[in-house]
Amino acid sequence: MKRIFITGAAGFIGFHLAIAARRRGDFVVGLDLFNNYYSPELKRTRQKLLLKEGIEVVEGDICNTPLLKQLIQQQGITHVAHLAAQAGVRHSLTHPNDYVDANLQGFLSVLEACRSFPEIKLTYASSSSVYGLNKKIPFSVEDRTDEPTNLYGATKKANEMMAHAYHHLFGLPVTALRYFTVYGPWGRPDMAYYSFAQRIWEGKPIQLFNQGKMRRDFTYIDDIVKGTLAAIDLGAACEVFNLGNHRPVDLLYFVQVLENSLEKKADLEFLPMQPGEVVETFADIEKSQRLLNFQPSVTLEEGIPHFVEWFIKRNGARGEENRSDQMLNNHTKSLL
Ligand SMILES: NC(=O)c1ccc[n+]([C@@H]2O[C@H](COP(=O)([O-])OP(=O)(O)OC[C@H]3O[C@@H](n4cnc5c(N)ncnc54)[C@H](O)[C@@H]3O)[C@@H](O)[C@H]2O)c1
Repeated sequence: MKRIFITGAAGFIGFHLAIAARRRGDFVVGLDLFNNYYSPELKRTRQKLLLKEGIEVVEGDICNTPLLKQLIQQQGITHVAHLAAQAGVRHSLTHPNDYVDANLQGFLSVLEACRSFPEIKLTYASSSSVYGLNKKIPFSVEDRTDEPTNLYGATKKANEMMAHAYHHLFGLPVTALRYFTVYGPWGRPDMAYYSFAQRIWEGKPIQLFNQGKMRRDFTYIDDIVKGTLAAIDLGAACEVFNLGNHRPVDLLYFVQVLENSLEKKADLEFLPMQPGEVVETFADIEKSQRLLNFQPSVTLEEGIPHFVEWFIKRNGARGEENRSDQMLNNHTKSLL
C-alpha cells in the first residue's frame, strides 16, 4: 500500500487518479487551491465526491513549502503525484504570470518539499506542449524539445529540467508524464472538446482554427490514470514518458464524433491559425509500452459518448447532489 499525496486533486486528472488509487487500496490525500481559472464549483463538487471516497482534499497553495512538508510528514507520504498547475495554452498569452507562479515557483516548492524526505518518489505532469515546433511525427521522448510555441509549454519543459537537476543533486526519484489532450467525464470546461460540446448543445457556432486542419492525439482519462499509476508504481530514478493515445484524429472528424454523440449538428466557423497553437500532436508511446506496460485502449468513438453522457447529465442536473453521486458511481466504474 502506497501513501500518495496528489497536488491538484480537485482538478480533472487529479480527481480521477485519486479515486483509482484509493480504490486499489492506496492511502490518498490531496491539495488544491480551488482557483477560478475555471468553475470553482466544479472543483468543489469533485472535492465533495472525493470525501465520500475517503479522500480529503486540503485547500492550499503548492507555493507554501512548509504546508507541503507538514502534510507529507503528518500523513507518512511515500509518493507525490504533482498535478497542480496553471494549464491551458490560450490563457498563457494573456496571463503569463499565472504560469510563473504555479508552474515555476510552485514546482520549485514541490521539489524543495520532496527533497526533505529521502524516501519520497515524485511523479509529475508534463505536457505534449513541450514538443513545440518539433516536426518529427510521432513525437518521441528522444526528440528535441527546446522550441516551445507558448509559455505554458516552456514552463513544462522547465519543470523537466528542474526535476533533472534535483535528481542529479539530491538523488530525488523523478518521473515526468507528458500527457496528450486528455478528455472524459468530469473534464475541464476550458478545453476545446468541452467548450465545443457546450456550444453545439446551446446551438452556438464553434471556431475551428487553421481552417480546421489540425490533428490531436485525444487520450481518454481512464488510460491516462492507468499510465500514471504504472509510473507511480515503477518509481523510476529519472525518466520522461509520453502518455498519449497514439491515434491522432483530424479536428473535423472529432467534431463529427461529438455531433453524433450529442445528436446535434455543429455550426462551424473557420479561422486562421491561433498564435501559440501547433498543427498536430501524436505520441510515440514505445517507451511507455515497454516500461509501463501502457496500452491505451479507449478509442475516440468509445470515449466521447462517455463524456457526452456525463456532460448532458451535468447540464441538466446542476446542484442536484444525489444525481452527482449517481454520476460518479457510473463514471468511475470503468476505473476499477
Ligand atoms: N488535461 C490535459 O489534457 C493535460 C494535458 C497535458 C498536461 N496536463 C497537465 O496535467 C495536470 C493536471 O491537468 P488537469 O487537466 O487535471 O488540470 P486542472 O486545471 O483540472 O487541474 C489542476 C488543478 O490544480 C489546481 N491548482 C492550480 N494552481 C495551484 C496552486 N498554486 N496550488 C494548488 N493547486 C493549484 C487547480 O485549482 C486545479 O484544480 C496539469 O499539470 C496540466 O498542466 C493536462
